[in-house]
Amino acid sequence: MKNLIEKINKLKEEKNAIILAHSYQNIEIDEVADFVGDSLYLSQRAKDTDANIIVFAGVYFMAQTAKIISPKKKVLLPNLNAGCLMADMINHEQMIEFKKNHPNVPVVCYINSTAEVKAECDICCTSSNALKIVKNLNTPKVLFLPDANLGKWVERKLKDVEVITYNGNCPVHHNVEKRDIEFARKKYPDAKVLIHPECKPEISELGDYVGSTSGIIEYVRKSKDKQFIIVTEKGVAERLERDYPDKKFILIKNGMTCESMKLTTLKEILYSLEHEVNEITLDENIRKRSANCIERMLKVSK
Ligand code: 13P
Ligand code: SF4
Repeated sequence: MKNLIEKINKLKEEKNAIILAHSYQNIEIDEVADFVGDSLYLSQRAKDTDANIIVFAGVYFMAQTAKIISPKKKVLLPNLNAGCLMADMINHEQMIEFKKNHPNVPVVCYINSTAEVKAECDICCTSSNALKIVKNLNTPKVLFLPDANLGKWVERKLKDVEVITYNGNCPVHHNVEKRDIEFARKKYPDAKVLIHPECKPEISELGDYVGSTSGIIEYVRKSKDKQFIIVTEKGVAERLERDYPDKKFILIKNGMTCESMKLTTLKEILYSLEHEVNEITLDENIRKRSANCIERMLKVSK
């Protein structure tokens, strides 16, 4: 592994490349990553960088987003099979149908979606800024896709906006049940419960904190508490265990694994960087239209 890490780091320098890694990636990828974080943070880094190549250790929609907002850069996704189950729940046709059923309502698109879908939306959001983005639209009604759980969570929190959701979800987070939280709370009564808003809204309601992967990590960093129940993908719990050895982290249940996120390996990162393969490409018309949707979000989220 040391050898792989050294080779990747050398190539990064030679080629003026950076590696962006999502917090659900295999943890050893942090050894070569320039930035590790949630989807908003990584899109901001993709926009800011003056590197020639971005290697995205994440899933397809994340690398595609990087290409949309940094079109002059070469964006590589080391394993092209790394998709997102939620993003795949809505295609362009379904999107058009959804809009047709609710004409003249602004459309908010969760970043976990394809460029073709983003191109039809008014503004993008991530799990860390969804509340802010919807509030900022200052409208009584919005369409929200593809994540029904996040959309309904936003509706509960904002109270005065009707959020009409598409019927998508993340199967990893959607699988968490009320009894899982109750069981964990009973077993660890002193622990704080930290929840990703892709869980069902009635689950998020039970959290001491609800936020993105970076939000959850930041909550732990600032907290004086010693025990935390982590209700998101296991990569977050693993990183917290590594970084805070004096604190205890309890992953809510088995099966909190995003298989797609785990497809990327150091070997594949080395191969794609060395040969500059698995490049993300996009139709320029779709790129431009989807860029509007993301740029609007980045402006609000500065
Ligand atoms: P974050 O906004 O926390 O990065 O969430 C992205 C994601 O895919 C969670 O499943
Ligand atoms: Fe998609 Fe869920 Fe994996 Fe996130 S955890 S990338 S929403 S499948």
